Amino acid sequence: MTPPNHGDAHIRVLISEERIQARVAELAREIREQIGDGPITCIGVLKGSFIFMADLVRALGGPVRCEFLGVSSYHGGTRSTGVVRITEDLRHPIEGHHCLLVEDIVDTGLTLDYLKHFLGARKPASLQTVALLDKPGHREVEVIADFAGFTIPDEFVVGYGLDLGELYRNLPFIAVYSP
Ligand code: PRP
Repeated sequence: MTPPNHGDAHIRVLISEERIQARVAELAREIREQIGDGPITCIGVLKGSFIFMADLVRALGGPVRCEFLGVSSYHGGTRSTGVVRITEDLRHPIEGHHCLLVEDIVDTGLTLDYLKHFLGARKPASLQTVALLDKPGHREVEVIADFAGFTIPDEFVVGYGLDLGELYRNLPFIAVYSP
């Protein structure tokens, strides 16, 4: 049997696959309660959100449109520049749509803050945000997601879409990475 850490000594499971799946189902219920049974345009932020987005849209049920935004953040250094660049825009207008921005993690908050303004300018009927993970200890901008799956400590996490050097995105759980 594969060990829980997939045989990788650098990682330690933080949130199991079962807990993630249960929470995604709860989030979907909370979101539907708030937005109702009508169409939702889900906007996944690439790449990190692709697995969460795939599970969430299936849990939401009902009419759902899927859009993606390619985003490149230049705040990985020691000082934050706050610059977020759009590398792939939406394929369709969202004016008049009830939109849900889907993020894997809110860390400094710079990406979410930027994207809320970027998408708000497109005149959606409403814009809500959901993040699977919230790391409040690392904020540089005061921003919160309308719906959040798990609050996590200020540690480097991988899995379920989140990467280290493009690896680990395919883990079915969230793990803490230690070098
Ligand atoms: C991650 C994540 C969010 C952003 C959050 O993306 O997917 O989009 O960082 O961080 P912030 O709150 O500090 O702005 P990343 O830049 O790692 O790219 P990726 O999703 O392609 O891995």
